[in-house]
Amino acid sequence: MFQCMKICVERFVHSRQRLPFVQTFDEAVEIIRKSQKILVVTGAGISVSCGIPDFRSNKGIYSQMGEYELDDPSDMFDLRFFRQNPHVFYQFAHKIYPKNIAPSFCHKFVARLEKEGKLLRNYTQNIDNLEEAAGISRLVQCHGSFKWARCLECGFIIPGSEIEAEIESKTVPRCSKCVDVGVIKPEIVFFSEQLPPIFHDNVNLDLSQTDCVLAIGSSLKVAPVSEILRLVPDNVPQILINLEHLQHLDRHFDVELIGSADLVTADLSYRLGWEIDGAQEWTFYEPNIYQLKNNFI
Ligand code: OAD
Repeated sequence: MFQCMKICVERFVHSRQRLPFVQTFDEAVEIIRKSQKILVVTGAGISVSCGIPDFRSNKGIYSQMGEYELDDPSDMFDLRFFRQNPHVFYQFAHKIYPKNIAPSFCHKFVARLEKEGKLLRNYTQNIDNLEEAAGISRLVQCHGSFKWARCLECGFIIPGSEIEAEIESKTVPRCSKCVDVGVIKPEIVFFSEQLPPIFHDNVNLDLSQTDCVLAIGSSLKVAPVSEILRLVPDNVPQILINLEHLQHLDRHFDVELIGSADLVTADLSYRLGWEIDGAQEWTFYEPNIYQLKNNFI
């Protein structure tokens, strides 16, 4: 309780001031053009066009949990609940398991940032491995992924592909190595679990080095990833690319580009001169919001 109050007070006392030199779309593009250590924070919104729903939108994963009779939709990713009811997760897992899915334009945009030597790191909350498929290697999968799976009893780790059949048949995979025949859990970070060491190994140094932040396709409601944005030094430009304005981060970003991540990043690629026909029409809302006019997702 005390810790929670402390975070709220700190947020209130230290709300970010927008930077005077990044006020417009053109200035945001210039910042991206000049920056060499861009920290990209991504969320489920960038995989929606690949066919994977996000979590909190009207048609998102949490709106589809009715059939599982959970007290709270997020229980599906709660470790204690999983230990007691692994079959519930495996009834559902096929809906988010990435099979025969290709990366979006936005994933490729982040890969292009890396190819251009501009990407400091992509902190993704997504578990679909599409960053890897797009060729992004400067990557932290903050919430793990389906790439690996682990026995909850003996800790034995296996490639995620070895539990694909169980995910598809909605059955609980069991460990073939331990005497307890433990339940296997994908190496996805559930609520109440620690983020992987690669997050903690990189985040502080990255925060001190970054020269531009792009937050793409995330509601930025889940800590500690959401806290990255608050811990970035005040003089570092921050740009939001998202389908919606984030009310809880009102006036936090220097510029907001509101629209589908694919179309916005296509337009950015065009403006950066990356041989893409991505010009879009935008509506401007004071003080810093640009919204796509034709937002086909
Ligand atoms: P959310 O569902 O909370 O937020 C997705 C955001 O992307 C929303 O603000 C949408 O408006 C936006 N969005 C949807 N489609 C988009 C599109 N085509 N282009 C651009 N933006 C789009 O998902 P996350 O922020 O990723 O954790 O959620 C964070 C974490 O909450 C997840 O990693 C997951 C969940 O609980 C775990 O599973 C541990």
